[in-house]
Amino acid sequence: MSRAQGGARIDGQPTRAKLRTRASAYRHDGGFAATRACLWYGAPVSHDAAKALSARTGDTILGNKEAWTRRMFELATQMRADGGPVYDLSLGNPSLEPPALWRETIRELLVDEAPGMHRYMSNAGYPEVRAFIAKREARRFDQPFEASDVTMTVGAAGALNVVLRSVADPGDEIIVPAPYFSEYDHYAANASVRLVPVATGPDFALDPETVRAALTPRTRIVLLNSPNNPTGAIYDAASLDATAELLRAHRSERPVFVVEDSPYRDLVHDGSEVPAMMGRYENSLYITSHSKDLGLAGERIGYLLISPQATGRELLSRAFGFSNRVLGFVNAPALMQRALPLVLGHPEGRVEVEVYARNCRRMAEGLSALGYHLPPVRAGFFLFPRLPDSLRALGTAEASSDVALTEKLRAQRCVVVPGTAFGVPDHLRLSMCVDDAAIDGALAAFAAVGS
Ligand SMILES: Cc1ncc(COP(=O)(O)O)c(C=O)c1O
Repeated sequence: MSRAQGGARIDGQPTRAKLRTRASAYRHDGGFAATRACLWYGAPVSHDAAKALSARTGDTILGNKEAWTRRMFELATQMRADGGPVYDLSLGNPSLEPPALWRETIRELLVDEAPGMHRYMSNAGYPEVRAFIAKREARRFDQPFEASDVTMTVGAAGALNVVLRSVADPGDEIIVPAPYFSEYDHYAANASVRLVPVATGPDFALDPETVRAALTPRTRIVLLNSPNNPTGAIYDAASLDATAELLRAHRSERPVFVVEDSPYRDLVHDGSEVPAMMGRYENSLYITSHSKDLGLAGERIGYLLISPQATGRELLSRAFGFSNRVLGFVNAPALMQRALPLVLGHPEGRVEVEVYARNCRRMAEGLSALGYHLPPVRAGFFLFPRLPDSLRALGTAEASSDVALTEKLRAQRCVVVPGTAFGVPDHLRLSMCVDDAAIDGALAAFAAVGS
């Protein structure tokens, strides 16, 4: 997949088409698995075994692009088991423990609790927790949210799937600035909608013109992720204003929603403001989670917020509860919901962001010295450096330069994710959820593979 040069869309289809061709190869001649799917990792998959899967899932999980991040993470686990150091920068698995306050809160909640605290509840969550979130976010966005505007979800991932299930029909289009979180491909596939990646500007800034050029009568959602995974970019107020204006001017039978996926909003390194569409554009839906700012990725708690000005505000609220149910989430985890009002808003109710900030600075400085280009990272814990020209020459017909470099780094026991996984070759995605030794080892590995 390559970034569009000056065009509005990014051509995401060749990869998919290739996957389909390869998938039919394994269905028809059984040779695919041995030759392609397991190019790097995993045991060969037999033709018979592959028949167990739906075409949709088989095409994806036996495809080359699938879950690079997870695949690299598993590779790192394997390398660790084989012995020796591994400098694993592959997965954004929060390395900071949840705050002590959260742990104490959970302990207290479990002592002498009233009966019924672990039963089913309203699919949208506990009313008092929704009311708490509404009040808290009303202060942040200066919007009159009500409890009914809040749906508690199984993380941001759950919320994204709930939104897609609720507002998009098969064949509808979702515009997303690239590079983007690669799971979006799968969420779009779950809802049979088409992801339409659009080019970003210098340093991955939101480019309203590419959004405008990609709008069609089928556009249902513009999906924005700021601060961004993988780039760390924060979209500025001017680009959001321009995007809101052009969406308002777009003639469409049905509302076009802006979905803000913002799980890194509370992980800003330096107090930088993170401008939002909520409050700028009436049909805004806001998603966040506490996977990162409270270090609770495994506990699966997040929420979804409806703009008070949204078309169909009340219906959306009903639809989100329904989708939570029928997608099989049913409701967000009860105990996690109950903890939020007791933890959020306390100064100690957050992980120590400075640790991630320091890691990002150290790695960025080291990489810059080796000739990599990185925009300043102001939030989150990912870096997305562009390869120096000399290393871009590593690319071949078989593998793009970032994939080739990923392999070279692996030989130095450093595990990264190629930018190809995010639709942007010639870059690497590095997670800074690591300790100092991993940064030292990774920088030594980068130095060893040259620049
Ligand atoms: C941009 C983005 N959106 C959504 C998610 C999913 O987060 P959660 O763990 O809250 O489901 C992630 C996780 O890495 C992410 O980076």
